[in-house]
Amino acid sequence: MFGRERIEFKTPDQVRAMRRAGLVVADALAEVRAAARPGMTTGDLEAIAARAIASAGATPSFLGYLDYPATVCVSVNDEVVHGIPGARVLAPGDVVSIDCGAIVDGWHGDSALTIVLPDADPADVALSELTERAMWAGIAALATADRLGAVGDAVEDVVEAAQAGGAGVRYGIVEDYVGHGIGSAMHQPPDVPNYRTRDRGARVRPGLCVAIEPMITRGDQRTRVLADDWTVVTEDGQRASHWEHTVAVLEDGIWVLTASDGGAARLAELGVRIAPLA
Ligand code: MF3
Ligand code: CO
Repeated sequence: MFGRERIEFKTPDQVRAMRRAGLVVADALAEVRAAARPGMTTGDLEAIAARAIASAGATPSFLGYLDYPATVCVSVNDEVVHGIPGARVLAPGDVVSIDCGAIVDGWHGDSALTIVLPDADPADVALSELTERAMWAGIAALATADRLGAVGDAVEDVVEAAQAGGAGVRYGIVEDYVGHGIGSAMHQPPDVPNYRTRDRGARVRPGLCVAIEPMITRGDQRTRVLADDWTVVTEDGQRASHWEHTVAVLEDGIWVLTASDGGAARLAELGVRIAPLA
């Protein structure tokens, strides 16, 4: 936990630089999403992302980070986050979360999405849609928040509403991993919990840039790490989804740096207008 360490507040020019990194990540993930299908390996997805980042002239941020051996994390089914891409062959109906980070001129972007492959279990599609919706609710909350705790409140409200609405469905919000400040490094203070906490969290001010990244399971919230020292799986073997965006707080509003439209479409549905920099 980062506690109350110093936050790196960004100038408008620094946010513009982070936007360039964010768009590289958005494009890399869009390419992976368009290509992913049963029969491919997770290593094939790695190669697509690595090529997209290299051809944009950017640097992957995960590769070599704490000795992580790849450009993306590919986490399949009961894998929550930090799955290492390789020889695993994707099967119909797999739930595939891809997490990607890139650096441009020293500034970072970080984003993740979940793809549910064809022949999907409708409950897995619902899980991914819920996680994405929870992420957007957390992002929208940032637009009016006084403190970062509003993000986790919003995520948890969405998950609770889904449980109240669906007959007997139970979801877990993973608490072992949290979102984070981001800028001249991938992981910075402050922590951004994806769940309700007593601690109201850091003050939300212009120049704050954070990665909001809920991880939601179809069962219990508990996780464990596999023997590769990276792959995080659910304790109960249930499937999980992970969605993430890098978001900047500006004088006049927020800007989703890793969304190609800056978040305009999804946030408009929630009554929030983005305030992109020119
Ligand atoms: N995107 C992940 C996060 O938000 C980082 C992946 S960890 C790495 O924390 F080591 F693989 F880079
Ligand atoms: Co992140």
